[in-house]
Amino acid sequence: MKQLAPSILSADFGRLNEQIDILKNEGCEWLHMDIMDGMFVPSISFGMPVVAALRPASDLFFDVHMMVEDPGRYVDAMKKAGADLLCVHAEACTHIDRVLASVHDAGMKAGIALNPATPLCVLDYIMDKVDMVLIMSVNPGFSGQKFIPAMTAKVAALKKKLVDAGYPDVLIEVDGGMNVNTIPEIKAAGADVFVAGSAAFSGDVAENFRKLNALIQE
Ligand code: DX5
Ligand code: ZN
Repeated sequence: MKQLAPSILSADFGRLNEQIDILKNEGCEWLHMDIMDGMFVPSISFGMPVVAALRPASDLFFDVHMMVEDPGRYVDAMKKAGADLLCVHAEACTHIDRVLASVHDAGMKAGIALNPATPLCVLDYIMDKVDMVLIMSVNPGFSGQKFIPAMTAKVAALKKKLVDAGYPDVLIEVDGGMNVNTIPEIKAAGADVFVAGSAAFSGDVAENFRKLNALIQE
């Protein structure tokens, strides 16, 4: 089933639980959590304590996006905090194969994220080790950026690559600039999970979820 994954980076941090409850009431199943270290990306967001604080209040699927250098250092700590899926950037790992294996060993789903300019060939020898590929459709680091149009063709090429290689069930997630205008073409290209930051949290959270989710499910 296709999922809308609201990114709490754009939420009101003073009313986080309240906004998550609104999403749950609308039938939201995935929550996207952007972890930033001020090194891999310029900004710093939040880490394990926030993930752990949200865990007891919810049975949502915690989709944790590590915009962090050498993310293998945090695999066990993120599992302990409550991550269900840990997505690491190919550009941030020296030993990608080992990190992905350690995510599975820790009992989480494993994702690999690719920056806009990173070619799909980095996936050639790790497709059996990933549950999800995240295509960044903006340069990571901030919410509210403009969708990079070339990423539609990249998503379509990824879908074909996964099917041709015999991994049709690996999920494709797209992150950055997703809104009512960009979701339809990304959906047509073959994406399964659509991250929305500003489009999910600016204004009426319930209404935003209904509108975006309807586009994804139709
Ligand atoms: C960007 C983050 C995104 C961000 C998306 O670096 O990875 O998840 O929150 O925000 P929008 O949807 O506003 O582009
Ligand atoms: Zn993200």
